[in-house]
Amino acid sequence: QPHAEVVRALIARHGAQAGALLPLLHAVQDALGHIPADAVALIAEGLNLSRAEVHGVITYYHHFRAEPAGRHVVQVCRAEACQARGAEALMEHAEQALGCAQHGTRADGAVTLEPVYCLGLCASSPAMLVDGTPHARVTADQFDRIATQLKV
Ligand code: FES
Repeated sequence: QPHAEVVRALIARHGAQAGALLPLLHAVQDALGHIPADAVALIAEGLNLSRAEVHGVITYYHHFRAEPAGRHVVQVCRAEACQARGAEALMEHAEQALGCAQHGTRADGAVTLEPVYCLGLCASSPAMLVDGTPHARVTADQFDRIATQLKV
């Protein structure tokens, strides 16, 4: 299994550090795009934790994904400054426009919609990332233009 080899190598690299779990989870997600169930088992074994503990950390941090992402990833900021300037409405708009609930991937695999918590663009809120590219002061119209460009 190619996954397992990657995960084992990352455990070997990170596993000995104190507080290895978070850096290791980041490394696995960076390498695989998500943290599959078989990786959870290996990580638990490698760090001497229970699967439930590892799973709990993955679900606690919104950054981590248990499933592969869609071809495009839209991340709408829901932290304080953005909340004060329409992030909630923007997220609702995104859900409707994309046909996909937040934390979810549309059935055709075209797009994943996720909340994120502060992108450092608070002065230009509401903000979002589309495939890692920041967009600031996002209006519903702008959102639609970006979605059209992505063909989603
Ligand atoms: Fe949204 Fe900081 S709160 S970018």
